[in-house]
Amino acid sequence: MNPFYYQNNELFAEQVALRNIAAEYGTPCYVYSRAALEHNLLAYENALGDTPHLTCYAVKANSNLAVLDVLARKGAGFDIVSGGELTRVLAAGGKAEKIIFSGLGKTEAEIEQALQAEILCFNIESEPELDRINAVAAGLGVRAPVSVRVNPDVDAGTHPYISTGLKENKFGIDINRAFAVYERAAALDNIRVTGIDCHIGSQLTAIDPYLDAIDRVLSLVDQLSAAGIQLEHFDMGGGLGVVYHKETPPSPQLLIEAVKRKMEGRNLVLMLEPGRSIAANAGIFITRIEFLKHTEHKHFAIIDGAMNDLLRPALYGAWQEIVPVSTAPSDLRSEYVYDVVGPVCESGDFLGKDRELKIAAGDLLAVRSAGAYGFVMSSNYNTRNRAAEVMVDGDNASLVRQRETIDYQLSLENVLAE
Ligand code: LLP
Repeated sequence: MNPFYYQNNELFAEQVALRNIAAEYGTPCYVYSRAALEHNLLAYENALGDTPHLTCYAVKANSNLAVLDVLARKGAGFDIVSGGELTRVLAAGGKAEKIIFSGLGKTEAEIEQALQAEILCFNIESEPELDRINAVAAGLGVRAPVSVRVNPDVDAGTHPYISTGLKENKFGIDINRAFAVYERAAALDNIRVTGIDCHIGSQLTAIDPYLDAIDRVLSLVDQLSAAGIQLEHFDMGGGLGVVYHKETPPSPQLLIEAVKRKMEGRNLVLMLEPGRSIAANAGIFITRIEFLKHTEHKHFAIIDGAMNDLLRPALYGAWQEIVPVSTAPSDLRSEYVYDVVGPVCESGDFLGKDRELKIAAGDLLAVRSAGAYGFVMSSNYNTRNRAAEVMVDGDNASLVRQRETIDYQLSLENVLAE
């Protein structure tokens, strides 16, 4: 489903023209589609059907309260990586018993917060972390539910910055060491071993790396079972890719069908942690062209959005489609090949390079596939206010995060008394 489509030369989000959203809330601005978020979650839910499962949306992809609320209302669980994300999920109406806590650097305070909230499970990534969780749980007089994130050493074939399942990555516990860690965990007084998980990378466009990883993890599950350690769930992680450009990722349905075949006959609840495949194509970023600058070597479209708003192109060289919000023909516009750049003082500040566009100063542009790892990775670099976020639901657009103000930014800071 693509909720962003042209009608009469205007780009719409569901039934609202993006031009109207820009007029009302200004630019730069993120726009999310409620229908697309729900549709993308349901793609997993429908494929999973009556298989015992829990889809835990990876909050890091887009943690706006309205996004979490829409998904929580549809029954989603949540995969969090910080105490802050836990607070968000609970504030948005997410249920503690559907929350899993991933991430490799959980602090004592975060562990305590999560134990007090009675979350479903901690995904642990090292032995010191296991000991810390055991100690905090002992202090509270409870047993902490724990799953070990194993690193199955498979190549997910994705960008090195977002590949996580290789031996050289910092994530998870080496699959060859995991058995011993489970034995230790099972012997700790304040730990309850409940599951096993892996996450091999992000923006995966093939099913095979998942199946390889699952084979390896399931053979460990069998070894554990033979040793008397019975697990309740298997969490296959997230990572399914989306179409930004010419990628051809499998649909959630194809992936889940293949995974279900692997899991047949096993008494394990299947859990997953998708982020990007739920949020990326449910969002778009709109920005206005401030100036066109034509030099001997290049044509630049200088926009009011920048790397601080949408970091993926600068950080990973990621390609995201850039289209005009209005395509009405005009004599004032000739087509050039543009670098679409922001006002930040870095050559890496671009949202797209070598884009054929027929545009004029003052026009609006939209960057597609911006619903995941967009706003959440934004910053105040160059003392820029972070962008507004809007959610569209049918013919209604609501502001779900106001544009920051300079007063807000300065209110967090102090000068020395003398
Ligand atoms: N579970 C764990 C343990 C993760 O580390 C991640 C993502 C996910 C689930 C969700 O993965 P997804 O389904 O969204 O691929 N900033 C990068 C992506 C970083 C992904 C980090 N981990 C980007 O913009 O491409």
